Amino acid sequence: MTQPTIESILKEKRQFHPSAEFAQNAQVKSLEEYQQLCEKAKADPQGFWAELAEQELDWFEKWDQVLDWQPPFAKWFVGGKINISYNCLDRHLKTWRKNKAALIWEGEPGDSRTLTYAQLHREVCQMANVLKQLGVQKGDRVGIYMPMIPEAAIALLACARIGAPHTVIFGGFSAEALKDRLLDAEAKLVITADGGWRKDNIVPLKPQVDKAIADNAVPSVDNVLVVQRTNQQVHMEPGRDHWWHDLQAGVSAHCPAEAMDSEDMLFILYTSGTTGKPKGVVHTTGGYNLYTHMTLKWAFDLQETDVYWCTADVGWITGHSYIVYGPLSNGATTVMYEGAPRGSNPGCLWDVVEKYGVTIFYTAPTAIRAFIKMGEHHPNARDLSSLRILGTVGEPINPEAWMWYHRIIGHENCPIVDTWWQTETGGFMLTPLPGAIPTKPGSATLPFPGILADVVDLEGNPVEDNQGGYLVVLHPWPSMMRTVYGDPDRFRRTYWEHIPPKDGQYLYFAGDGARKDEDGYYWVMGRVDDVVNVSGHRLGTMEIESALVSHPSVAEAAVVGKPDELKGEDVVAFVTLEGTYSGSEALEKELKQHVVAEIGAIARPGEIRFTDALPKTRSGKIMRRLLRSLAGGQEIAGDTSTLEDRSVLDKLREDS
Ligand code: WTA
Repeated sequence: MTQPTIESILKEKRQFHPSAEFAQNAQVKSLEEYQQLCEKAKADPQGFWAELAEQELDWFEKWDQVLDWQPPFAKWFVGGKINISYNCLDRHLKTWRKNKAALIWEGEPGDSRTLTYAQLHREVCQMANVLKQLGVQKGDRVGIYMPMIPEAAIALLACARIGAPHTVIFGGFSAEALKDRLLDAEAKLVITADGGWRKDNIVPLKPQVDKAIADNAVPSVDNVLVVQRTNQQVHMEPGRDHWWHDLQAGVSAHCPAEAMDSEDMLFILYTSGTTGKPKGVVHTTGGYNLYTHMTLKWAFDLQETDVYWCTADVGWITGHSYIVYGPLSNGATTVMYEGAPRGSNPGCLWDVVEKYGVTIFYTAPTAIRAFIKMGEHHPNARDLSSLRILGTVGEPINPEAWMWYHRIIGHENCPIVDTWWQTETGGFMLTPLPGAIPTKPGSATLPFPGILADVVDLEGNPVEDNQGGYLVVLHPWPSMMRTVYGDPDRFRRTYWEHIPPKDGQYLYFAGDGARKDEDGYYWVMGRVDDVVNVSGHRLGTMEIESALVSHPSVAEAAVVGKPDELKGEDVVAFVTLEGTYSGSEALEKELKQHVVAEIGAIARPGEIRFTDALPKTRSGKIMRRLLRSLAGGQEIAGDTSTLEDRSVLDKLREDS
């Protein structure tokens, strides 16, 4: 963050409008309607959110004050009493939705389960009572370390029901990572499973918990609740470990939802930065409930009959907000899938779409790139005609990947909702509303109504259209993170001090670079540390990657900078190729030329390295930091525990 400007080089001009028929039936039907919502929110932000909170949610007691803003600390619906588990379950039982499918679950081995709202409510109440029996009280933190099975969602809702903040630790994390997070949160109990299925193998979970808490390493943990999924032998420590099915058998299914204060902590979710220990992002109850509810309803245009499927893991914010809370608060049918594309069935996701008639499909660019690599014959062999909306989240999406998604999965018929947001924001911040906002491949389009965003320089001054800068949010919003758990100072430092307040207005700095085009559309360029500085030009790596991916031979590309005496930095591209191509000097030359043709000589990679795979985090983000070290010929330093597959890194090392 030493240079005030970031140059944007992506010039994507295509535009896609929703069909008249789609727009007519949508929750928000036109650009005018969207703009009216924005204007209303801008004129009276508190009135705007209060009206929706009253209309869309059930409160036990109304709030006294909509917003208490003592920058950078916000409180929403102060004094209001609410329970998100009640809003996700109980209130639907009073309607015909009682017997509607709430959760459709498909296991990787092909087993499946559907829970109606009534059934889900019953199981949540039972687990809530079991937690109470095991001594969990309102305010106690509960760790959740689970595979993608219904009990993961049940665990979240059970914690919320009794007011015990949960902290979900992604099931792919190691015992060490688990221990750190349980310690930081001082969790009282851990909910886990014997294991889960992934890529035709059992991923053992209980043994990791045993390791994490062995020798009283996490003194706060008294009990472990274990769900049986994979049936392999696991150690059960007497007095500490309990099978869920044993305790469920003897427990009541009545458990009234606790009346929580709107600002009571709902959960902590840890995010790892490039440096330092993971941050415990704190979200609270009322504002989070409202915002995840509204964003899903409008951005995915939820209709009563939709079958909505988000492919994320519950261990990430996307799973929290948009597999569990957002969909269920809306009374929608949410699909959960345990498995992942694998050798024995690369097209398994399309089987799920076909089997359940999925209408809304929400995934990540990294998955889309994998689909492209596996080949379009997989989706082509399935009936995907039920789909009506597609979504993407997690990274900037390359326009060519967007086009593939549009053509091959959407059959040119489904608006693509590119949602930009973060663990910290709780819900979508920039997103098309699919019936109202025309899309452009690679752009998350416009702010959600009520969100005031901008692109500024390091002093907080708005930059000109099409100039790169730093993406900021100007006004507090209901689901913003409240603090870093146990470290309010770090919260202030990380998000509110890089860019100082401007005319008394605090700017939330998201850590991403972006530009706004002449239509006000945002083009997120990635984390500000994902830039290459070539001869004083800060180039978004994603844009060079997009250029590479637009070449027919390239499946995936990751671009990093390498120190260069003349240019400051030189562009190094790591490239994986489509099945029928192989790396050669001629191809390297051709790709360099291609980048020059697409972007300009400034972005010409000095070096292209062909590889079979790129190092990624478990949430699918390319770890450019590691590639940067490799490209620069340095030792790999820092944390590699979030790496999905270590062998990828070892292989790259050997090759370099
Ligand atoms: C990136 C995931 C471009 C961004 C919900 C952000 C995106 C970080 C998009 C947050 C998008 C997420 N376009 N970039 N649509 N969505 N990002 O906390 O850099 O896992 O800051 O939350 O992902 O990642 P997180």
